[in-house]
Amino acid sequence: MIVTYEALRNDPEVREMIAAADAQMKAIGYTEHGMRHAGIIAQNAGMILERLGRFSEREVELGKIAGLLHDIGNLVSRTNHANTSALLAYDLLRERGMPIREVTQVVAAIGSHDEEEHVEATSEIGAAVVIGDKADVARERVRNPLVAAWDIHDRINYAATETQLEVTLEPCTVSLDLTIDTEIGSVMEYFEIFLSRMVTSRKAARLLGCDFHLIINEVTLL
Ligand SMILES: [Fe+2]
Ligand SMILES: [Fe+2]
Repeated sequence: MIVTYEALRNDPEVREMIAAADAQMKAIGYTEHGMRHAGIIAQNAGMILERLGRFSEREVELGKIAGLLHDIGNLVSRTNHANTSALLAYDLLRERGMPIREVTQVVAAIGSHDEEEHVEATSEIGAAVVIGDKADVARERVRNPLVAAWDIHDRINYAATETQLEVTLEPCTVSLDLTIDTEIGSVMEYFEIFLSRMVTSRKAARLLGCDFHLIINEVTLL
C-alpha cells in the first residue's frame, strides 16, 4: 500500500494527534507546534532532498512524511518526544499499510530529530528533517499575547520577520537566511538559543555532504 504525504496530511486521526500535541505545547507555554509547524518541516525536508537531486520521488515523500509526524509525540509529553513520536508514527503508518522497509526509515528519521535528547541524525532523510525543523523560526509561532511574559524563545521567534532555507549545489550548501528585528531580539540572544541548534544543523548538513551557513541580516555568521 502506498501511503502518501497528502493522504496523511488530510487524515483526521493525524490531524487530531497533531492538534493534541500542539495543545500540550501550549499548556506548557511553548511556541506553536501544530499543523503549521508540521507542514513547514515536511516542506523543508522534501525541498532539501529534492534539491539534492539524488533521491527518488518516494524517498522525498518519506522525508515529507517524517517531517509531518516528527513532533506528534508531544501529545504524550515533551520529555523524550522524539522517541514517542517515532513509536506513534510506527503504529499509524503500519495501520495504514505502509511497508515495514519504509516505516523503519521514517521512524529512524523522527526518533533522532531532537538535539536536546542528545541524538543526531543517522540517515539522510533524518538529516533533512533536522535541518528543516531547526529552520522554523517565525513570528507566527509566538502565541503568548503578553509581551511582558515572553521568554527568550518567544522574543527570538517574534523578532524573526523573514526566514529562508535554501540549498545550492556545487559545492552543496544549505543556508538559513534570517531577517531579525534587532529592536525585539538581539543577534546575541539569537545565538544564545540557537547555537546548539545550528551545530546540529551543520552536522546534519555534513551527513548530506553539504556545508551549512547561517546568515542573519545579510551577515554570514556560520
Ligand atoms: Fe521535536
Ligand atoms: Fe519540531
